[in-house]
Amino acid sequence: MPRDSKSNHKSDPQAGSERSRPLLHQHAREIQPYGKLAKLSIALDENVCTESAENLNQVLADTITLRDLYKKHHWQVAGHTFYQLHLLFDKHYEEQNELVDTIAERIQSLGAISLAMAADVAETTIIPRPPRGREEVPVQISRLLEAHEMVLKEARTMAKQASDSGDDGTNDLLVSDVIRTNELQVWFISEHLVDVPLVHADAPAGEKESPKSRTAGAR
Ligand SMILES: [Fe+2]
Repeated sequence: MPRDSKSNHKSDPQAGSERSRPLLHQHAREIQPYGKLAKLSIALDENVCTESAENLNQVLADTITLRDLYKKHHWQVAGHTFYQLHLLFDKHYEEQNELVDTIAERIQSLGAISLAMAADVAETTIIPRPPRGREEVPVQISRLLEAHEMVLKEARTMAKQASDSGDDGTNDLLVSDVIRTNELQVWFISEHLVDVPLVHADAPAGEKESPKSRTAGAR
């Protein structure tokens, strides 16, 4: 080893660690542009995979938006049903989050690319943007029900399309996961908009008696 290289090692504390240093700030061309297919051997035609992936990316954008709407409402809910709705909204958020991953990974399995980032989702979703501020519970639930119905409507159309083109995997995901989860969630939140009495039963006219007189009659 030349004498001056030895002295360089002494003056440079990083000398000799070149191979273990992270290579930062790297850039290159994409390996697959969005919208292009990298065909996998799953015995489906390219045009079938492309059509299914396009449909699934729409459901994905809407499911991400619905999922985030649940988290917004989980944080911002107000009133005497706060605790139960705070918990229910978060449960539905988690279930929608699982759907997001299932849909995105199906798109990748078809050889396509799934949407991922918020700005791309915002450009793609058909669910109306809510205000940043807080809303009353009935408004929150109405907003969620409208979003669920949009997802259900498109999922049914796309499930039929996938079935007709022989893409059973996509059809099964849309029916067994997307449609069934959304229908169940609609039931759970719809019941919060049924106006039933909390304490006094809504007796037919003429049969109304005060709780006091009922107690007296029972003696
Ligand atoms: Fe939370």
